[in-house]
Amino acid sequence: MAELIRTNQYLSIKGKVAVITGGASGIGLATARLLLANGARVVLADYNEHAVQNKAAELDQTGDQVAAFALDVSNQEQVQALFEFTQQKFGPVQLLVNSAGVIGPNKPTLEVDFRDWQRAVAVNLDGTFLCCQEAIRGMSQAGYGRIVNVASIAGKEGNPQLAAYSASKGAVIALTKSLAKEFSNLGIYINSLAPAVIATPMNDATSAETLAYMVGKIPLGRVGQPEEVAEIIAWMLSDACSFTTGQCFDISGGRATY
Ligand SMILES: NC(=O)c1ccc[n+]([C@@H]2O[C@H](COP(=O)([O-])OP(=O)(O)OC[C@H]3O[C@@H](n4cnc5c(N)ncnc54)[C@H](O)[C@@H]3O)[C@@H](O)[C@H]2O)c1
Repeated sequence: MAELIRTNQYLSIKGKVAVITGGASGIGLATARLLLANGARVVLADYNEHAVQNKAAELDQTGDQVAAFALDVSNQEQVQALFEFTQQKFGPVQLLVNSAGVIGPNKPTLEVDFRDWQRAVAVNLDGTFLCCQEAIRGMSQAGYGRIVNVASIAGKEGNPQLAAYSASKGAVIALTKSLAKEFSNLGIYINSLAPAVIATPMNDATSAETLAYMVGKIPLGRVGQPEEVAEIIAWMLSDACSFTTGQCFDISGGRATY
């Protein structure tokens, strides 16, 4: 999809330091490619150590523009280590994308093991909170920052048999609104987005029947591509997004019109 990568569109991104969680795959990786093409320095942060090292090397063999960091975003010490690593490698973090996420238990709610619920909430919600908290410490001092939290249409609408995912993504939308209001006077813009089904490895295990059902709800009649999601994220990270904070952007092919 290289032809979809446009440069010079997001001029303010040039030279900025970005942390992307979930950066080894899907939406996070597509965003890394676009930010890199627009001159940012990027730390890919991901649970999958092998993938994150490989993808970072693939994007930039010199290591001058891209670095990899393996962590579990729900672990506070590891999140703190991520931001210390980034500061030492590239300098203060100006851009943060929280894209790390898991589907969690996809079954009737009465059969859900509480530990599986807790794990999904820990990654999707606690991880987003912890990364925001660490990023905002530095951004507050600089008086500048841009944060994008990847939520989901499930967080707006609530998908059946996906209680932990839907609840944690709904909470990410509310967390974004709360933080945006708290830090708006410090030059920190914090927005979220709610994609519908996107063609990434997260959907590898989704059955053809379920995919067809989900596409059936999308007026544009297809799944989205991670590069399309990266476009809206890059815009939110750029100074072109100058009068919007706390918003949850739709990217659902028309499924949600609110
Ligand atoms: N693909 C979709 O249809 C879709 C739709 C709506 C929202 N989303 C959201 O978009 C975000 C990105 O998903 P994707 O589609 O790119 O999926 P993906 O599976 O391709 O990428 C998710 C990445 O997050 C990483 N990750 C998982 N748990 C982690 C942890 N504890 N710590 C650090 N990294 C961890 C994974 O290793 C993986 O590389 C997720 O938050 C997801 O919920 C995806």
